[in-house]
Amino acid sequence: MDKTFVGLVGMGNVGAGVARLLLDHGDRTARHAGRILWIRHVVVRDVLKPRPVELPSGVLTDDLDRLLNDSSVSVVAHLVGGIEPARTIMLRLLESGKDVVTANKALLAEHGPELFDRARELGRSIAFEASVAGGIPIIANISQCLNANRVESLRGILNGTSNYIITRMSEEGTPFSDALAAAQRLGFAEADPAMDLDGTDAAQKLAILGHLAFGSAVHWNQIPRRGIDDVSALDLSFAAQFGYRVKLVAYGQLEGRSLQVRVAPMLVRAGTPLAEVRENYNAISVVGDFVGPVFFHGQGAGPAPTASAVVADMIDTAVGRTRITFQTLRLWSEIESPVVIESAGRLAAKFYLRFNVVEHPTVLADVAGVLNRHGISIATVYQQDLEEDPEAELPLVLMTHRTTLAAVESAAEEITRFEFVRSAVERLQILD
Ligand code: HSE
Repeated sequence: MDKTFVGLVGMGNVGAGVARLLLDHGDRTARHAGRILWIRHVVVRDVLKPRPVELPSGVLTDDLDRLLNDSSVSVVAHLVGGIEPARTIMLRLLESGKDVVTANKALLAEHGPELFDRARELGRSIAFEASVAGGIPIIANISQCLNANRVESLRGILNGTSNYIITRMSEEGTPFSDALAAAQRLGFAEADPAMDLDGTDAAQKLAILGHLAFGSAVHWNQIPRRGIDDVSALDLSFAAQFGYRVKLVAYGQLEGRSLQVRVAPMLVRAGTPLAEVRENYNAISVVGDFVGPVFFHGQGAGPAPTASAVVADMIDTAVGRTRITFQTLRLWSEIESPVVIESAGRLAAKFYLRFNVVEHPTVLADVAGVLNRHGISIATVYQQDLEEDPEAELPLVLMTHRTTLAAVESAAEEITRFEFVRSAVERLQILD
């Protein structure tokens, strides 16, 4: 059987998963690719570091040039995290005539235009299924299977670490720091978990998906974002009480040519598919004008699911499918964006508001007055029974009818000025 010689750069969790899949299941790739994907070089920084997978002798090297100068290698899995030297390595791979498969969403979200332009100039391809939602084939589905549609909305749970933490906190009352430590042990979290927790990772993935789904050329750091790092256990518990679950949602909604994008913890109605996504799982709900709603669910992080996507891309590249899709995709090309990004304040939704108050006869009247002045209509009010202690701080929860984020922000700012209000106003978008 024919062989396609391949290389790997990087041998962390994902690299080890890719090597294991290629080495232990060569029959599978041979059957699906019609050729054997033969690992010729694995480039790492430190060849002496212990590896969880045994490589054939002579394959492991710390010399990138060995791979670059080997013209028999046509496909390389680029599994280096971060921005530099990952960017330079990718450019050098393309310039030495390799087609590249990558799992590095941060790099694509930051330098996608440069890297894709360079690949196009050189007649090479970059495949990146593994960069968003790990094992879920969302890139292929949005860019190929659904491309007869105008995508109208996209809701994603795109960060496995956040979802894992929120699941543990909500279902077992696990403290945040313990749940994070477990996510790190299981290999879901980024080297710097701050990127998982503050919404950066989800925003980078949303920037990539938004580009494919809506044609938006928004840079990830222009996407308004908030992570789960400051969501309190109290709000998780109130959400459950009202029939919702809190999820970190990557949100894209198209109205005419206006696109609303944001990443934030939101209340998602229990029983809906998105609300039931647990642990490290990811999900993406897409609505297209012809297909209607479609839902994708699977493991978005971890060595094995990510290796599944990387190796599928390597097979596609080896058989020549990637080259065709890549050239027709025009991703990050100079083509004018068909959508404009709407200002965050114009987001229209229902909201959950919670703040702590001390007992005072005009609490409800004053708060309702502020909301009324901002045109916000109240759907639900909940206040815990007053305790004997008149100074006790009690949570007051309000759920609104549809309004705008700008109205909610202004009202929240006014509410915090009341003397009886003793906390910041938590505000979370509600997805019904
Ligand atoms: N840290 C990421 C996550 C890994 O938790 O989803 C996959 O991109």
